[in-house]
Amino acid sequence: MKTSPAFLTDIKEIRQRARKDLDEGAVTKNYGGNVKDAINLLNHAVATEIVCILRYKFHAVTAAGLSSESVKAEFAQHAKEEEEHLDLLAERINQLGGKPNMNPEGLLSRAASEYVEGSNLVAMIKENLVAERIAIETYREMVRYFGDSDSTTRVMLERILAQEEEHANDMHDLLVAQQGTPMLME
Ligand SMILES: [Fe+2]
Ligand SMILES: [Fe+2]
Repeated sequence: MKTSPAFLTDIKEIRQRARKDLDEGAVTKNYGGNVKDAINLLNHAVATEIVCILRYKFHAVTAAGLSSESVKAEFAQHAKEEEEHLDLLAERINQLGGKPNMNPEGLLSRAASEYVEGSNLVAMIKENLVAERIAIETYREMVRYFGDSDSTTRVMLERILAQEEEHANDMHDLLVAQQGTPMLME
């Protein structure tokens, strides 16, 4: 009896399974991780991004003082990029069969970052730098969590992480420009 090569059998099985799992969307039984935990984690990041968008937007409008125009532009740019992160996270949650949690109720308790207005330009920049550092830490942990079990989510998080690192760097540069002396990283 002629047997088909193993990889062909595999393809046939994969196709059959794909048809069976059509109603499950992009995530099938092959998903390496725990979908519920994944969605939960991603929803924490959703909350963090929303808080960051709101904080940057507030700062972009209310910042005042010397050279505040260029700083405002930087804040506004960051708000836009945090919104892109939010979109990526929400899309991925949807692909995983979950529901992005955009509910304003309890938002701050789900978010890793804080909403602090800051009373002057330097205070605002400092708050944003702190928030970026928190975002970097949480995204690093999430990248480690997803590892090889869900490389699509991991790659997306790595892209976001790279941009958060740029954001932190931008805030650090602004702080140095405002204060005149390099701030030592603690
Ligand atoms: Fe972000
Ligand atoms: Fe950021």
